[in-house]
Amino acid sequence: MSSDVRSFFGRPIIIGGGIAGLLTALHLAPEPVLVLSRMPLGSEASSAWAQGGLAASLGVDDDPEVHLADTLAAGDGLCNPEIASRILHAAPGAIETLATLGVRFDRTPAGTLRLGLEAAHGRRRIVHAGGDGSGQEIMRALVEAVRSAPSIVVVEGVEARRLAVKQNAVRGVWASCSMGSVFFGSRRVVLATGGIGGLFFDTTNPLGSCGQGLALAARAGAALADLEFIQFHPTALDGPDRPMQLISEAVRGEGAEIVDETGQRFLEGLQGAELAPRDVVARAVWKHLSKGHRVFLDARDKPGTTFPRQFPTIAAACHDVGIDPAHDLIPIRPAQHYHMGGVAVDGAGRTSVKGLWACGEVASTGLHGANRLASNSLTEAVVFARWVAESVAGTPARRTKPVFARDYPSPDPISVRPLLSGALGIVRNGECLKATARALLPLAEANDAASDPASVGLMITIAALSREESRGAHYRADFPHHEAVARRFELTLVDALAAARELAQVPSLEEAR
Ligand code: SIN
Repeated sequence: MSSDVRSFFGRPIIIGGGIAGLLTALHLAPEPVLVLSRMPLGSEASSAWAQGGLAASLGVDDDPEVHLADTLAAGDGLCNPEIASRILHAAPGAIETLATLGVRFDRTPAGTLRLGLEAAHGRRRIVHAGGDGSGQEIMRALVEAVRSAPSIVVVEGVEARRLAVKQNAVRGVWASCSMGSVFFGSRRVVLATGGIGGLFFDTTNPLGSCGQGLALAARAGAALADLEFIQFHPTALDGPDRPMQLISEAVRGEGAEIVDETGQRFLEGLQGAELAPRDVVARAVWKHLSKGHRVFLDARDKPGTTFPRQFPTIAAACHDVGIDPAHDLIPIRPAQHYHMGGVAVDGAGRTSVKGLWACGEVASTGLHGANRLASNSLTEAVVFARWVAESVAGTPARRTKPVFARDYPSPDPISVRPLLSGALGIVRNGECLKATARALLPLAEANDAASDPASVGLMITIAALSREESRGAHYRADFPHHEAVARRFELTLVDALAAARELAQVPSLEEAR
């Protein structure tokens, strides 16, 4: 990167090189844009790890309204039905957009899109690419398109550390790279930074995804929403590796069953059994493990010998640890997988800070509610990338003044991980949440490597404490009931810090245990 970054001033800046960020950049063409990526494109984004595909009502038996009904049911009263309807009606067009960009989707011998089934979908409507390698194939096509787009400058190895904000409007991005600190001036910034898996021990996300976009937005004063809703995937490969290998829900969609060490199919009595909503299956598996059982996915009969052809990535990961899914049981346990909450955005992806948009997992659009329906998130990212790009393009570029580069510490979640893993898992309780907020407060207030991850963790903890009920992916052992009326909370960092300071009267984490 040239040290003369002023030549980029005024361009929209997209922070993040996953599917949401790259598509936003492509939709903005021919307007010149700058994409800032921490790592070389395609090497770290969780998008590339997506096994599930995109959900869209493409089958002859399907309809966007049926897809909407399934999404609202899974969201447990907290989806925004209007935005969900807009997204799901646009979903078939999103598949077309990707196909036009060169994504090779899986097709039947007749050439039509092959449609898979995942939990809580009433129809076959998941479009995959490369079997369980959808994310990788989509990223391949997008990276190729971005590399050959003359309007897009990608700066790799740059980490955005803070947003410059004046009078609640964005003025630029302070970033860090191998040459030191750098300031990019712009009044139009898009966050497309992914999720929060790196804040947990057990996750299927890249460990580098530790809520950087949430921290950037929160420190800029933006409101965050639905933070307490964290999705745990019921079937991560229970081995020593971290992050954990995901065993796609599509495997259960093809007939695999969940059993324990005695061979008992303990989900049998549950409505929907293995294909019940993800929060329900994850809780049931967690409960069974807590009783001392071991839990396995049994794919020996279905999909059986076709497993390696249908799920080549998973088959390879299983073989790496000595398991042949066509002949052996696959040990599984739940792991953090997706964050339904995020930066609160409107229907154009605009946050509460002027000139700041959010797209993809970092955003909270209202589609997922309390529990995301599988494969709705890639669809959301693809649909929203266009809407965000249109909104950015329609916002005039205005001059920005250069400011001095500033140093901010690189985020390191190591001290936050045990706190969040202990308190914000599948089952939560108030005393532990309070003690965790108290432990996170000094970390969040310090100006060091832990403070950004701790600030994000603190906001999630305060949100989880505020929701005194159990809904979707948020289960409180001390409030197991479901309120009749669903309420959505928004939170700023200032409010979360104030709430945590008030809680500083509660016993310490050690005392609470
Ligand atoms: C899966 O393939 O099970 C994950 C899909 C998703 O999380 O959307």
